[in-house]
Amino acid sequence: MSPKFKNPRARFNFQGRTCSITGVGSYLPAKILTNAHLEKMVDTSDEWITTRTGIKSRRQAAKDEFTSDMAAHAARRAMKMAGVTADQIDLIIVATITPDMPFPATACLVQQKIGARRAAAFDVEAACSGFIYALEIGQQFIMSRTLDTVLVIGAEKLSSITDWTDRNTCVLFGDGAGAAILQSRPGSHGLLTAVMGADGAKSNLIHMPGGGSRCPASVDSVAAKLHYLRMDGRETFKSAVQAMYHAAQEALRRCELDISKIKCIIPHQANRRIIDVVGERLGATPEQLFVNLDKYGNTSAASVAIALDEAVTSGKISRGDLILLVVFGSGLTWGAAVIEW
Ligand code: UT7
Repeated sequence: MSPKFKNPRARFNFQGRTCSITGVGSYLPAKILTNAHLEKMVDTSDEWITTRTGIKSRRQAAKDEFTSDMAAHAARRAMKMAGVTADQIDLIIVATITPDMPFPATACLVQQKIGARRAAAFDVEAACSGFIYALEIGQQFIMSRTLDTVLVIGAEKLSSITDWTDRNTCVLFGDGAGAAILQSRPGSHGLLTAVMGADGAKSNLIHMPGGGSRCPASVDSVAAKLHYLRMDGRETFKSAVQAMYHAAQEALRRCELDISKIKCIIPHQANRRIIDVVGERLGATPEQLFVNLDKYGNTSAASVAIALDEAVTSGKISRGDLILLVVFGSGLTWGAAVIEW
């Protein structure tokens, strides 16, 4: 037994079966939208955005660049790191709130783009928590020996549902994608635990009212701007701190781990102040917290997937390190995962 864990049951390791992340990759569109650009679009300032959120710039996908394109780019990079070919992929799960279209699933479009003809494919909609939800779902297929190789992707084109005249929201979001390959690797530990939660009573805090069965697209719905994301920022902030703190605590408790044992905490990149408050409440040091929202803003389901890739490729995480992912988003939804890298 690894001396790091007091309780062997905390480890997802059944008869030698583990669920490891064997490759990660990300993709960010080329266009950079800085706070200075936004100052020319709405009544805001670099000073306000920086002090209230920590964001300095975000990426914006081209008009003809869609969620499935960004997802496919990230997927190819993760496959390359894992040494996996398209034929080996059994299942593709895409977490997104900005699919290319309401149906078919963006995962099916990715399947075609990367040539993974053997793979089953579906989307998961858990907003900013989507990547952890998708990881947990993928893990179940690996641990049950149903499948050997699962591709999990978080991808968003949030610029397509952003009201570029609303300063309350347009400064916050960005586009991008992150991907991970899940496989069993004997001798390694991988995903140790994943926590998921939701509170539908607070579904109105972040939502897009139009485009579903309740309010299908019409001339009136477009005129009323119902196809844009809406958020009660202040209430969302409070809920985010609570939910991320409790999800992280629960994940650590299940593994009987103290926060000091975690090398790197990768929180959902929504707001620097949320990250700092959650980190402080958990008793983490600033060095443990991975932050890249200054460059990319809030990319929803892609957020922790992109950050995980950057943490790995920049050398912040090495094999054997313990890492904690913690997320929060519309739904409300939340989640946390502990991984031995
Ligand atoms: O990914 C899903 C999860 N999302 C989140 O976790 C987001 C959580 N919420 C937040 O990050 C923050 O609440 C915001 C960054 C959205 C807002 O920060 P805040 O400190 O909560 O500001 P506020 O909404 O209380 O607004 C304060 C003031 C208001 O003006 P008055 O009413 O005090 O005169 C806003 O109108 O700031 C104003 N304001 C702005 N001013 C300049 C709002 N947006 C802007 C802006 N530029 N872009």
